[in-house]
Amino acid sequence: NQRVLTGITTTGTPHLGNYVGAIRPAIAASRQTDTDTFYFLADFHALIKCQDPEALNQSTREIAATWLALGLDIDRSVFYRQSDIAEIPELMWILTCVCAKGLMNRAHAYKAAVDANLAEQEDADKAITMGLFSYPVLMAADILMFNANKVPVGKDQIQHVEMARDIAARFNHIYCKKAPLLALPDYQVDDNVAVLQGLDGRKMSKSYNNTIPLFLTEKQLQKHINKIKTNLLEPGEPKDPDSSTVFQIWQAFASPEQTSDMRQAFADGIGWGDAKKQLFALINEEIGDARERYHDLLARPDDIEAILQQGADKARAISKPLLEKIRTATGIRRLS
Ligand code: TYM
Repeated sequence: NQRVLTGITTTGTPHLGNYVGAIRPAIAASRQTDTDTFYFLADFHALIKCQDPEALNQSTREIAATWLALGLDIDRSVFYRQSDIAEIPELMWILTCVCAKGLMNRAHAYKAAVDANLAEQEDADKAITMGLFSYPVLMAADILMFNANKVPVGKDQIQHVEMARDIAARFNHIYCKKAPLLALPDYQVDDNVAVLQGLDGRKMSKSYNNTIPLFLTEKQLQKHINKIKTNLLEPGEPKDPDSSTVFQIWQAFASPEQTSDMRQAFADGIGWGDAKKQLFALINEEIGDARERYHDLLARPDDIEAILQQGADKARAISKPLLEKIRTATGIRRLS
């Protein structure tokens, strides 16, 4: 069976972009029988961006509850928390020792942070932590620890998966030329899955502060949708669907028929207020039931914890023996 693995950083509250781009396709894949799926909460990655303990813990809880409420099949899929798998940071160290520093210098996320510091005339070497610099090595350990073949991600993460592949090849070359221990992963970017736009028309992202959280109350959801930026065209004036965020989000939730109907409605001059009301109804129908399950689950953190512990047991059954082989290959082993 093909091994599919992906992670989600436990900062912030899940938004429609995470749902459409990552969670919805992942949950659909968890129900397929010809793939083994591994989904995890990347809480070690969260430490890079978040040094507020309560916020990190709350986000972990919310993201776990989100996946479960949306119907992740926890019998078929391995669902765990990164920090429960002690083998991952250990593998990270081993990989750090075969990874050229120059590879990390080229990482987009690191370069963007350097540029941002330069722009503010701050000393990047003081502001950027080793955690941010080494982020792709930790991500490589996440992937390689489970010999994942396919890593579904958004475009922003492609480079990291390519780095994981490079690092795996380097490890195999040094330590196990004849029988490679690490599988070379491929990224999977689904072109049918949209990069959802946020309230201001840019990519929906926590860092742009333009998100629509997934499980708002109905009232709040309508309120957020009303905040989506539009042009000033009045009802009755034809509108261009392809430059409209309202239409872009519509498309991500609608059937093909509903999409072509909305396209026609734009041509016929549907008013923005009306289009947004319809968008609310469409999204609400898809996630309404999950919202209730989500709030039930959030009230039962012990149940979420028990599920994560079961997932960690399943994950460790795979990571422990592989790490043992990796240790042996490197010479970290008992004397005999
Ligand atoms: P993170 O937590 O930033 O995002 C999780 C996933 O959601 C996708 N995504 C989006 N897709 C469509 N539209 C959007 N507006 C949108 N916003 C986010 C992201 O591309 C990502 O796939 N480093 C990773 C987490 C990670 C990981 C891993 C992933 C840690 N280890 C190992 C795969 C394999 C991250 O920060 O994703």
